[in-house]
Amino acid sequence: MSERKKITLNTLFKKRSKGIPISWLTCYDSPTAYFQEEAGIDMILVGDSLGMTMLGYDSTLPVTMEDMIRHTQAVRRGAPTAFLIGDMPYMSYQASNEDAIRNAGRFMAEAGCDAIKLEGGKEIVERIKAVLSAGIPVCGHLGLTPQSVSALGGFRLQGKGAGAAKKIAEDAKILEEAGAFCILLELIPDRLCKLIMDRSEDTIIMGLGSGPDADGQLLIYHDMFGLYPKFTPSMAKQFADVGGMILGGLKEYASEVENRTFPSKENWFGMKDSEFDELLKTLG
Ligand code: KIV
Repeated sequence: MSERKKITLNTLFKKRSKGIPISWLTCYDSPTAYFQEEAGIDMILVGDSLGMTMLGYDSTLPVTMEDMIRHTQAVRRGAPTAFLIGDMPYMSYQASNEDAIRNAGRFMAEAGCDAIKLEGGKEIVERIKAVLSAGIPVCGHLGLTPQSVSALGGFRLQGKGAGAAKKIAEDAKILEEAGAFCILLELIPDRLCKLIMDRSEDTIIMGLGSGPDADGQLLIYHDMFGLYPKFTPSMAKQFADVGGMILGGLKEYASEVENRTFPSKENWFGMKDSEFDELLKTLG
């Protein structure tokens, strides 16, 4: 187990003020969390993307609070010191401030989170304030926000035109003024991300597919390692083809079972002659 000290808001803001980029990854299970912790990843997001990467849905919309809590608890067990953010799933905060506070509170109390993330700008600022009023740090999420993918016209670059870019820049200011400690900018043009960075005073700006000028970067773990066979977005860098390795191993296993090369002698246990003879005798 790593011996690193707990990553806190203080740690993150210190990195920001020293200009040291912050690393952030999605994670949904305990063994992967262990590896991320060992690798020194600063922040972990248990994203509602788990609906697609882990549960096989076509979108994030069917994901429930129960799904999120179960996976977040597992991640916390594997990564005790990472700064852990729970992603509020669809309809866990949109309907009322009470829903937002209750569900954000579950992430903190039941899953050991350090903060929660929710999607949207001006239209959800009251929810953000409500969650903050309960003493829970909030990360905002602008640009491509998967819970609104239908309204946004699909998984594509946001803020391409000046009008749409202005709305994102204004929303970022609104979230900052409301008290969000961090804003994730997903799939917006690099210059817009830099502009928002330059205008931000004391909010951590994280990028996903939005260029190099952010306080840090987020990647979807499954995209990094070729583990989501249905689709790999071009904004993601594949660091290793783990999916390909797994597939290769599975095919080898199937063929070794079929041609009886697995199991081999070191994969099983024998029994003493005397014990076996005794067994035959007792069975008659
Ligand atoms: O659910 C998730 O993993 C996310 C990322 C796409 C940012 O919200």
